[in-house]
Amino acid sequence: MATKVICIANQKGGVGKTTTAVTLAHGLARKGKQVLLIDLDPQGQSATALGLRPEPGAFYLLTMGDSSPESAFVRQWLRETGRENLHLIAGDQQTMAAQTVLNAQDKPISGIQQSVHRFSKENLDYIIFDTAPSVGGIQERAVWASNFVIVPTATEFLSADGVDKVIQMLAILQNTKQWKGALMGILPTFFDEQTRESKATIEALRGAFGASLLSPIHRATILRECAAEGQTIFEKDPDSRAAQEYKALADLVAKF
Ligand SMILES: Nc1ncnc2c1ncn2[C@@H]1O[C@H](COP(=O)(O)OP(=O)(O)OP(=O)(O)O)[C@@H](O)[C@H]1O
Ligand SMILES: [Mg+2]
Repeated sequence: MATKVICIANQKGGVGKTTTAVTLAHGLARKGKQVLLIDLDPQGQSATALGLRPEPGAFYLLTMGDSSPESAFVRQWLRETGRENLHLIAGDQQTMAAQTVLNAQDKPISGIQQSVHRFSKENLDYIIFDTAPSVGGIQERAVWASNFVIVPTATEFLSADGVDKVIQMLAILQNTKQWKGALMGILPTFFDEQTRESKATIEALRGAFGASLLSPIHRATILRECAAEGQTIFEKDPDSRAAQEYKALADLVAKF
């Protein structure tokens, strides 16, 4: 199987991007898939969510050339996570500087795709990008390098705003930059059917995105605890509803 690349994106903050990237990555790894999670967010939270330390792996991935010593150097930042089949390139605040370097080097839109080509010999089934809550050259290039994009969105009023902006970016990349990938789906998060806000938001999203709307992830305090403790939900409570919902997402992604 060729490596499938999936980008988790929404320029809005705190909508569940990192939770989704980390949990989906672990969910696929638990299905026996070889998964590389790459943290393109300077906050470095993909590492901490797995109980690991943020470090500048992503910075080097984004900025080093493809000579063989440079590639060998970048590959040294590939970390085992202590979970079978799940590998990580962590990020940290240096990723912010990568943006400046990308601009200075005038890297093409295909820049990140070229960067991840280094790992094509690793027999990876999936590469998953966690991205920062902003728009910029890194986000655009990460989407361009991806076969599919998942857009988590909190089921709150005004959340459609962030979704619209991502959808617009996807259309621009398809229409003007020959991006060949596609939206896999909009993932409603923090869902709570007790609140009118959650229900109304889901209905509005369904009206706007129809079949692209994925099954929601409910609001669950345990997910917050997972992030704080450096465990995924599959480790902390595999029988919880949150674990089942994220397992269903991994099953769906594996069928795409
Ligand atoms: N379904 C959920 N229910 C309750 N808490 C959640 C849920 N999903 C994520 N969280 C918690 O909400 C916070 C924000 O989630 P997360 O870090 O995944 O969002 P993000 O979009 O990556 O944020 P940022 O834009 O800052 O990178 C975290 O503390 C996380 O543990
Ligand atoms: Mg995040």
